[in-house]
Amino acid sequence: MLGPPGSGKGTQAHIISELYGVPVVTTGDMLRDAAARGTEHGLTAKGYMDRGELVPDEIVNAVVRERLSRPDVEKGFILDGFPRSKAQAEALDRILEERRLRLDHVVHVTLGDEEIVGRLSKRRSCPRCGAVYHLESKPPRRGLACDECGARLVQRDDDKPEVIRHRLEVYREKTRPLLDRYARMRIIREVPGDTPLEDLPGLLRSILG
Ligand code: AP5
Repeated sequence: MLGPPGSGKGTQAHIISELYGVPVVTTGDMLRDAAARGTEHGLTAKGYMDRGELVPDEIVNAVVRERLSRPDVEKGFILDGFPRSKAQAEALDRILEERRLRLDHVVHVTLGDEEIVGRLSKRRSCPRCGAVYHLESKPPRRGLACDECGARLVQRDDDKPEVIRHRLEVYREKTRPLLDRYARMRIIREVPGDTPLEDLPGLLRSILG
């Protein structure tokens, strides 16, 4: 899943996961989890995340390499938020080559900056299971409790307008250039990030086959 922050990558990744029965590997969630557990990598990562900077490639690449060695990814997986830099794309190429795997699709989720800033200010996330809500388009059923696990929903530290704007700059500088790489491989599938939620399963299935 490739696209600017808040475009809807995580939301679409979870729909694809339900449609095809494969796990989502979300680097942002894994790094936030490591920070909450207070691991050395997690505490280093938290500083970068709170400022809206990319976490250093060597940390993220190690986290992804370990995650992709677990048995539940054997039938396929969805990468949400990785790769995000040239060095990460090259690390992914190496991991896939070692396991004799190939990328089938790169879903490019598109959305304008103003829409993103407005949208992220109303996002609420579950700190326990990672479920994502929106106060208007996808509100939780009971107050601010997660529908999935009941934990109290929170607003992410990096969802403040000034940090969101910096994340958008970082996306344009470091991540967006990866689109050229995947365009050459002819595996980019464009999905508008403002597609009505109820239309996404049908649209994604028709695009991914
Ligand atoms: P990460 O957690 O990956 O954040 P992000 O890429 O900035 O993306 P978001 O999670 O903010 O948004 P999203 O596109 O998934 O949108 P969502 O579905 O939630 O990364 C955070 C930080 O971690 C980075 O800044 C960096 O520091 C670090 N990091 C992570 N990966 C890294 C890497 N590989 N390398 C280095 N550092 C890394 O949707 C947003 C909102 O919109 C939600 O409220 C949702 O309900 C709503 N919504 C979604 N789709 C729709 C729709 N179709 N209609 C109406 N509402 C919708």
